[in-house]
Amino acid sequence: MNDTVILFLSFSVLELHQNPAAQPPPKKMNTKFDHLVLGPAAGQGLPNRLQCQGTKALNKTHTPSSSNAGESVSFVTVFTVYNTSLADSRLSNLVTVGNASYTKMERSMAVLNVFVNFIQVTMPRSNVVILTDPASDLSLRRNSVTVYPIQGDYSRDKLMLQRIRSYITFLETRLEELAQNPGHISHYIFTDSDIAVVDDLGHLFNDHPNFHLALTFRNNKEQPLNSGFIAVRGTADAILRAKIFLQEVLKVYSSKFMSASRMLGDQLALAWAVKSHPGFDLRRFTKAQAFLENIGGASVLFLPCATYNWTPPEGAGQFHGMPLDVKVVHFKGSRKRLMLESWNFLSSSSDIFDMLCLVLLSGRTKYDF
Ligand SMILES: *[C@@H]1O[C@H](CO)[C@@H](O)[C@H](O)[C@H]1NC(C)=O
Ligand SMILES: *[C@@H]1O[C@H](CO)[C@@H](O)[C@H](O)[C@H]1NC(C)=O
Ligand SMILES: *[C@@H]1O[C@H](CO)[C@@H](O)[C@H](O)[C@H]1NC(C)=O
Repeated sequence: MNDTVILFLSFSVLELHQNPAAQPPPKKMNTKFDHLVLGPAAGQGLPNRLQCQGTKALNKTHTPSSSNAGESVSFVTVFTVYNTSLADSRLSNLVTVGNASYTKMERSMAVLNVFVNFIQVTMPRSNVVILTDPASDLSLRRNSVTVYPIQGDYSRDKLMLQRIRSYITFLETRLEELAQNPGHISHYIFTDSDIAVVDDLGHLFNDHPNFHLALTFRNNKEQPLNSGFIAVRGTADAILRAKIFLQEVLKVYSSKFMSASRMLGDQLALAWAVKSHPGFDLRRFTKAQAFLENIGGASVLFLPCATYNWTPPEGAGQFHGMPLDVKVVHFKGSRKRLMLESWNFLSSSSDIFDMLCLVLLSGRTKYDF
């Protein structure tokens, strides 16, 4: 909590005047905000961190990747609609972002749409595949987006388990397709839908030519791996190994972590599958640097969350700002409003680096959805 106090006290009046979007410092500590609240930008003066003057970025280039053009990539996400009661559409439950108002259900649809919007800006040649419950009436008609129903149990408390199952089923169908049409290679990135892709990720598959699947890690003893980003190379061999790897994670989940909170089971299972591999050196998670490791027959690339799955720490966690090479921003927890606000900001400013400054200034605020 002390951390929050510092955050808002050091918020300068100058910035307030520079940013019409900024609001006066809030009075209550545990409030969730229904409008943008900007704090100071962390990491100022540090090398390789984004430098901001208000929401103006002073660094405007991405760290160059390999010269090859990015490869063909499809994003895959699991998404289902829960039909809520009529009460949900009551006026008092509406939230407003920009000029639009949303019910609970509309909020998650808006997040999904913004997820697609970001991909279409930063990786316009990519496709998005939405794996969903055949029972959910998901009407999303957009270019380069495919809705793909997969049978399963998508109830809220089983969703993380079902998600792994759906990934496995999807990989199986790709294997069948590849057997019929071996020439057509597309890589897959399985993600949460509350992320913004802010740089081309196709380079990943060129820059690291030897992995079958990639996971994101952070320096966190209990939960070193985040399940919100899993990349799979599009070759038959890699897809098969990724499938076997996920089947192992599913087995661990079902046998050890069914009682875990519904949001955490898959991350714990993922960490277990990796950590229980003989000879795996956990110290590698302490340094934000990519590394390759063979886990049960699969060549697994471990990518730092700092670049591929960036979320500002909540509460009093240490916070050294935003790396200049950030490629994916994850709007975890109560940051979904910030995701929508960021998209609106980008739509009007057309500058992704300025938008990243907005995210940096605002990422520790808790919002109303
Ligand atoms: C980022 O911008 C700051 C301020 O202009 C500058 O001092 C710094 O060298 C830049 N960093 C990089 C890596 O370009
Ligand atoms: C809600 O969902 C259930 C199961 O998917 C379905 O049977 C029911 O008709 C839906 N209700 C409404 C009001 O759409
Ligand atoms: C709402 O805002 C969007 C973009 O900011 C704009 O394109 C749209 O026309 C606006 N809609 C209304 C009803 O004002």
